Formats: sequence, structure tokens, C-alpha cells
Amino acid sequence: MEIIIKDNFDFVVEEIAKEIENLIKEKPNAVLGLPTGNTPLKMYSKLIEKGKKGEIDFSNVRTFNLDEYAEIKADDPSSFRYYMFQNFFNHINIKKENIHFPPSELKNIYENCKKYDKTIENLGGIDLMILGIGRNGHIGFNEPTSSLDSRTRVKTLTEETLKINNIKFEGVKYPDLAVTMGIKTILSSKRIILIAEGEGKAEAIKKTVEEPVGAMWPSSVLQMHEKVKIIIDEKAASKLKLKDYYKRIYSRKVYVDALLKEKN
Ligand code: PGA
Repeated sequence: MEIIIKDNFDFVVEEIAKEIENLIKEKPNAVLGLPTGNTPLKMYSKLIEKGKKGEIDFSNVRTFNLDEYAEIKADDPSSFRYYMFQNFFNHINIKKENIHFPPSELKNIYENCKKYDKTIENLGGIDLMILGIGRNGHIGFNEPTSSLDSRTRVKTLTEETLKINNIKFEGVKYPDLAVTMGIKTILSSKRIILIAEGEGKAEAIKKTVEEPVGAMWPSSVLQMHEKVKIIIDEKAASKLKLKDYYKRIYSRKVYVDALLKEKN
């Protein structure tokens, strides 16, 4: 795991936007895994800005969103599809046919979840999965005790998540059911970057990075992936025991990379 601690969240946004820009420059039809929530909002604004300036061309990029509420219409303001179009897709030159969301309708859900995973696979897998994190360590809607081997499926949300997400549920028939990429789906991405802001996430970040892998803190499973970056602000990093060590590694990264290149 590479832990990158920034003085404030604006620098986190700079860093993640740069990662995405570099990836798309290198691979114009990159496959991105995308989150919703409050944390990525500034990242989406930054990416829109880069799109408008011509620094990123999204015209061949493919995207897969992490999750969606069950049985919610795309035009419902609580839906993640609505969020994504309002906050990102409507403002960039991405093609509609390259945007993918997990199925929301419960009819044929097993089949459609399998199809979702299969479509990701058929496009060569997710090049870069971007994650937020819940205070309870969920990634996507993989709540505590999710199978670490899970694929895209229906999950029942915890009371804590329901409260925090503060969803407007009028007209939504099954407010605590969501469809999420599974943990295995997430782990099958080539690279993963998790971003977090603020003290509210400090405990979850500590469990993710420095405590044993376990289903009670689903994000801890990221320790099992070869290419993970955790990019966070000082407050989200405040409970990390080895904080100074991570900072030292990061400050010497350019030097060490050059050294290894020279020797090999
Ligand atoms: P947040 O949600 O960015 O709104 O804190 C993150 C998550 O629940 O994954």
C-alpha cells in the first residue's frame, strides 16, 4: 500500500485528478471505476475543469459505477445515476454508451449482476478503481461482514449508512437495499486509489491500513491488492501509527525510484 498524506483535501484532489489525467493520456480508452458520495465531488469538479481546458479527453473513456440503490429511477435525485450525470457526465465529452451502472431493478437481478461483472471483464477489467470509504469501512456498499469474495450483488444497508447518506426515500420501495460491485469485483481492478477527507474517516483509515484484514472492516481487504494508493488529508490520517514513516517514504519516492532505475 502506498499512503499519501496531504496537508488538506484540495491537494488530495490535485493528486487524484493528476493520476486520472496521466492514465487517460497513456490509455485514452481507459476503464474507470467510479464512486459517489460527498468525498469525490471536488474531484469531479476538477476533472470537469480539466476536460474544459482540453487537458483530458473523455471521448473514449469507459466507466463503471460502484453502486446504486435498488428499484430507484435514474431521474430520482437520490439515485447515483442522477448524481453522476449532474456532477460529472453532463459536463464532459464522454459517450453515453461508455457509461455503465449496476442494475437497479430487482427483476432478473442475479442475471444482470453477473452481466455487469462480465461486461467489466470483457472490456479488459477496470484500469483504475477510485474509492471513497464509509465510516464503517464500507467500500462501495460492501457493508461490514460482506464476503471478501463477493461479486456484484444486492446488499442490505446498515442503519448507520442509511442515516449518514440521508436519502430522500419518497417513492422508493426498498430504501435499505442497494446493488454494489462486490469486494472481489473491486479487487480485480488493475489499480485502486482510495481517497478520504476529515476526522470522521480517521478510524476507518486506521483499520484499513494498519489492522488485520477482516470482513468487519471491508476496506481492510485492500491490503491484499498489489497496487493500492490511499490518498488522504491530515485529518483522515490522524490515527495512523506509522504516519511519519508513510510521509518519509513519499518524500523520498522520486529519489528511490531513480536509484532503482539506475541500478536495474
Ligand atoms: P462520503 O461517502 O464520501 O459521502 O463520505 C463515502 C462512502 O460511503 O463510501
